[in-house]
Amino acid sequence: MRRKIVVGNWKMNNSVAESETLALDVLAALGEGFSGCEVGIAPTYLALEATGRILEGSEVQLVAQNCHYENDGAYTGEVSARMINAVGCTSVIIGHSERRQYFGETNATVNLRIKKALSEGLQVILCVGETLAEREAGVTESVISSQVREGLDGISSISPIVIAYEPVWAIGTGKTATSAQAEEVHLLIRTLITELYGKEAAEALRIQYGGSVKPSNAAELFAMPNIDGGLIGGASLNAEDFVAIVKAASR
Ligand code: 13P
Repeated sequence: MRRKIVVGNWKMNNSVAESETLALDVLAALGEGFSGCEVGIAPTYLALEATGRILEGSEVQLVAQNCHYENDGAYTGEVSARMINAVGCTSVIIGHSERRQYFGETNATVNLRIKKALSEGLQVILCVGETLAEREAGVTESVISSQVREGLDGISSISPIVIAYEPVWAIGTGKTATSAQAEEVHLLIRTLITELYGKEAAEALRIQYGGSVKPSNAAELFAMPNIDGGLIGGASLNAEDFVAIVKAASR
């Protein structure tokens, strides 16, 4: 049985003080000794250290929203895998569609970032997903396939990696993929991983769904055989909603 994983991606929201408050609210809503599923929150880089102090000793993991593929150097505005590791992150999101769309991230740079994060011992959440135009053009399968193959190029083990399927047209739009639409792509991803890493590794891989997950649709999505949790944007900014989603994954 795969352990479900739910991560709140706070994106560019919340000051340091607001992040601390939200983290405290999440812990309070989860309650003592929660162990239903793996849970993480990903504040901005700026708030990682302060949020990490709040999460210390809890079951909730500190996750970064990205990291660079060099340890240090002349990369203005970037933060390295080593730095996020040193501040207490155990996982990092790589290749989010907003990074691909607005910041020129490609499968090649995603691949470099993943390799560096893995070398620092971090768990990686690799995001993949097609745009609306790609879905309408009927190329979802080939887009996902190249994001997975090129993103994982040269990576020998899939075990420290989680894949998040986030259809771009469902992110922040209120338009969720139906559970059947999501399941279809999740199954495609697992089949690709079987081809690349073998059946056992593919069976163990967790594949999260992301894109307008809310307390009202979480249970139905998480009930699908190949959906192993969620990467939550908007709804993770509200502690009660986020925890309701976590609890839906824990049933
Ligand atoms: P929303 O939940 O706001 O649609 O965002 C999903 C997402 O991009 C999580 O990484």
